[in-house]
Amino acid sequence: ASANQPYRTGYHFQPPKNWINDPNGPMVYKGLYHLFYQYNPKGAVWGNIVWAHSTSKDLVNWTPHDPAIYPSQPSDINGCWSGSATILPDGKPAILYTGIDPQDKQVQNLAMPKNLSDPYLREWIKSSKNPLMQPTAQNQINASSFRDPTTAWLGPDKKWRLIIGSKIHRQGLAILYKSEDFVHWIQAQSPLHSAKDTGMWECPDFFPVSVRGQNGVDISVNGPFVKHVLKVSLDDTKHEYYTLGSYDIVKDIYTPDKGSVESDSGLRYDYGKFYASKTFFDTAKHRRILWGWINESSSVHDDVKKGWAGVQAIPRKLWLSKSGKQLVQWPIVEIQKLRSNHLRLPSKLLKGGSEIEVSGVTAAQADVDISFKVTDFEKAEVLKPSWTNPQLLCSQQGASVKGGLGPFGLLVLASEGLKENTAVFFRIFKGQNKYVVLMCSDQSRSSLNEDNDKTTYGAFLDVDPEHQYLSLRSLIDHSIVESFGGGGKACITARVYPTLAINNAAHLYVFNNGSEAVEIAELNAWSMKKAKLNLKD
Ligand code: FRU
Repeated sequence: ASANQPYRTGYHFQPPKNWINDPNGPMVYKGLYHLFYQYNPKGAVWGNIVWAHSTSKDLVNWTPHDPAIYPSQPSDINGCWSGSATILPDGKPAILYTGIDPQDKQVQNLAMPKNLSDPYLREWIKSSKNPLMQPTAQNQINASSFRDPTTAWLGPDKKWRLIIGSKIHRQGLAILYKSEDFVHWIQAQSPLHSAKDTGMWECPDFFPVSVRGQNGVDISVNGPFVKHVLKVSLDDTKHEYYTLGSYDIVKDIYTPDKGSVESDSGLRYDYGKFYASKTFFDTAKHRRILWGWINESSSVHDDVKKGWAGVQAIPRKLWLSKSGKQLVQWPIVEIQKLRSNHLRLPSKLLKGGSEIEVSGVTAAQADVDISFKVTDFEKAEVLKPSWTNPQLLCSQQGASVKGGLGPFGLLVLASEGLKENTAVFFRIFKGQNKYVVLMCSDQSRSSLNEDNDKTTYGAFLDVDPEHQYLSLRSLIDHSIVESFGGGGKACITARVYPTLAINNAAHLYVFNNGSEAVEIAELNAWSMKKAKLNLKD
């Protein structure tokens, strides 16, 4: 970020300029992390899509390379869209991606590295058999709804499997394909899974998670010690949902657990701006890592003016919660090496109607971790039975609406006098037989520029505030606020474009706008150093 580019990031992945969207083909090869992503080499709006490519030793600092995959044959001449990498048993990576053909049909293509001894894998050779999968009169696949192949997994029958996002009318589909040699792919009789009235499923992701502990497991693992996750990105709403369930490898059917659904009341990785995400298994550190695209909330006009659009979220480690009912996410530990200027506030009472400035860190580029201890629940308001939509609840009861127990939390990217601020906070309600915690990210005052989408986001947080501290960590990076509640049980990412609270004029506060006092059990804050982000040496 600089005076004329106050919204550029200090440590979130982005190229020097132009439009980006989905993360593609993340993987680790010979100890080096690779990230490809949808990129327009010609401007700050979507179009002319190629696979841009960067590599990193630590998932924090990135070296750019030339685009790895770009239109060059009939099967991708109108665009190289999203896809995934698979590490074959001999250690060779393979990329499957969606190409747009001369008739604008969506087809699936294969590319392999030209030179396996180049750790950067800079050049990729496309298969002469492309396209490997395509819509035909026989298979009745909709040619404009057939995209985003996943990483492939191996079944006990030694056959490869993958899914591709699709739809029939309003029914979302994960079309299953199988192959013996990775080149000839045959569509299975039934999709791996489908759901009514969800619309097009973009960027599906399917993988196992261990039922015990935080370690990840590789894609082909199945059995009693794992559950499976199916994530879909809904084109209609630009929201992602995931279900937890089980995968019958013999029938090749995935069945979500009871109550686990792909819409409205379903589970989300992130309740803010986060889309077209994809995981990979990091064999170097035995963890599953999630990459997601944080799209803009600014106008196209402003994007063109600033010359770029879109960033990638900080990669998150992801695992199954102890309850087995949801996933938990946490920023990769490596990001902590950018921390400097450690500021620690010892425990302190935060009276109702008060705020405390946290000074001493660069508030526009910071990592803040706070935990609250709540002892007196008397003033908690009763949760009405109709209050089932957390986003709506957060919009109706924003940070400026005084409550009983809460709102309390952080005011980030705040201008002096608080004319501009983004409020990330909790409210605690009295539920049926337990206390209910609501987490909100309120963007309504984030900018004096009215051209931005300032929608407020919200999520319910599965934390018992009677027995646990309520923690909140926010990664603040100029125009990004990535927040993790309850140790990563609910995540909310926001894009904001303050006009006053930029660079050194940004402030950070802890606030309590409820009538009841709460205790700050601990607050740790750091300035974040700049990462090396795709600058040529
Ligand atoms: C998701 C998506 C994918 C597609 C790509 C095109 O954001 O629409 O379905 O492959 O972006 O850039």
